Amino acid sequence: MSNTIFAFGLGIGTQNKEGNWLEVFYSAPCLHVEKGTLDALLESTNYEGGNSTLVLEEGDLNRLHMNLLKAGNIEQAELASRLKASTKPIILCVLATDEAPSNPAEVYLKLQLISHRLVQPHNTVLDGMFGLLINTAWTSEGPIDVKELADRQLSARMEGRTIEVFSVDKFPKMLNFIVPTGIRVGDAARIRLGAHLAEGTTVMHEGFVNFNAGTLGSSMVEGRISAGVVVGDGSDLGGGCSTMGTLSGGGNIVIGVGEKCLIGANAGIGIGLGDRCIVESGLYITAGSKVAVLDENNQVVSTVKARELSGQSDLLFRRNSETGAIECKTNKTAIALNEALHAHN
Ligand SMILES: CC(C)(COP(=O)(O)OP(=O)(O)OC[C@H]1O[C@@H](n2cnc3c(N)ncnc32)[C@H](O)[C@@H]1OP(=O)(O)O)[C@@H](O)C(=O)NCCC(=O)NCCS
Repeated sequence: MSNTIFAFGLGIGTQNKEGNWLEVFYSAPCLHVEKGTLDALLESTNYEGGNSTLVLEEGDLNRLHMNLLKAGNIEQAELASRLKASTKPIILCVLATDEAPSNPAEVYLKLQLISHRLVQPHNTVLDGMFGLLINTAWTSEGPIDVKELADRQLSARMEGRTIEVFSVDKFPKMLNFIVPTGIRVGDAARIRLGAHLAEGTTVMHEGFVNFNAGTLGSSMVEGRISAGVVVGDGSDLGGGCSTMGTLSGGGNIVIGVGEKCLIGANAGIGIGLGDRCIVESGLYITAGSKVAVLDENNQVVSTVKARELSGQSDLLFRRNSETGAIECKTNKTAIALNEALHAHN
């Protein structure tokens, strides 16, 4: 057996009536765990190696508390001790290796590794995760399997309560699981668990961030960051702008936005951007769009499909307001982020 494991988490789970996990909340997931902690897991619980999900009893948590203390892992030792008082099931999810998840507890651990900024988007295997997650109503009384919602609503009404349903989705709000430091979010419903919001990110009410996607540095996000899209440090997404998850026109090439870019209000990209690029507000660049490349004198040098410019730096895209043609020029004015905008993150 290896001396290290990819990740583990002590979590609090919610099950549906059939006993399937709807969600697991890991308050302090751990990445790349050392031998001492691994030994504590092996000695204290029924964990025998590999990728494994276990429900822990009070005795397991007691032993885990003592053995983690001996291993010097104070944070997890204290967590194990604290979880003894939980009225909800306690889960130990261990991922010896980073493989496609095999149950919801593993999916939730991986999504939380990303949102806790322990893993950047695309750096953990999430293949097949959709099929493992149950459609869940996220309500004022916690997560409820959508198949059980009507019954719960009736019961609640009979007791004089109304269950507030916030969403019906496979993914919950990220902020109900973790609020990373140094961020601001206008509307929590717009950030799914599994999003990666770096220090210095502001997501305004119109902004949206999907799972396995997000920012790597300071960003003002007023547009949509689709699943898989990663936005580099110092880039801004203008109000209502759109990023396609993959290079538009099919295929599975995930697009990204480099550093110090500006995607204008109501603009959109179906290609990746390198560093210091600007997309004029209102312009949607799809991968197959024909783009006239201009020289310094605004003369057309060549006409290419936008996908050929994907990922290149220092470009300014605009739609010629006289001809309607999409044009691309060298962006000479590297975008200086509005300092005041970011100063108070
Ligand atoms: C594309 C953009 C960056 C261009 O701004 P700019 O670099 O300041 O350019 P200017 O408006 O000064 O124009 C420079 C020249 O290009 C011309 N030009 C600008 N846009 C043009 C267009 N779409 N078609 C033809 N000519 C255009 C101008 O008329 C001007 O010509 P001139 O030199 O003969 O006077 C800007 O229009 C834009 O869309 N910014 C995004 C802002 C935004 O959405 N922020 C987020 C808010 S939530």
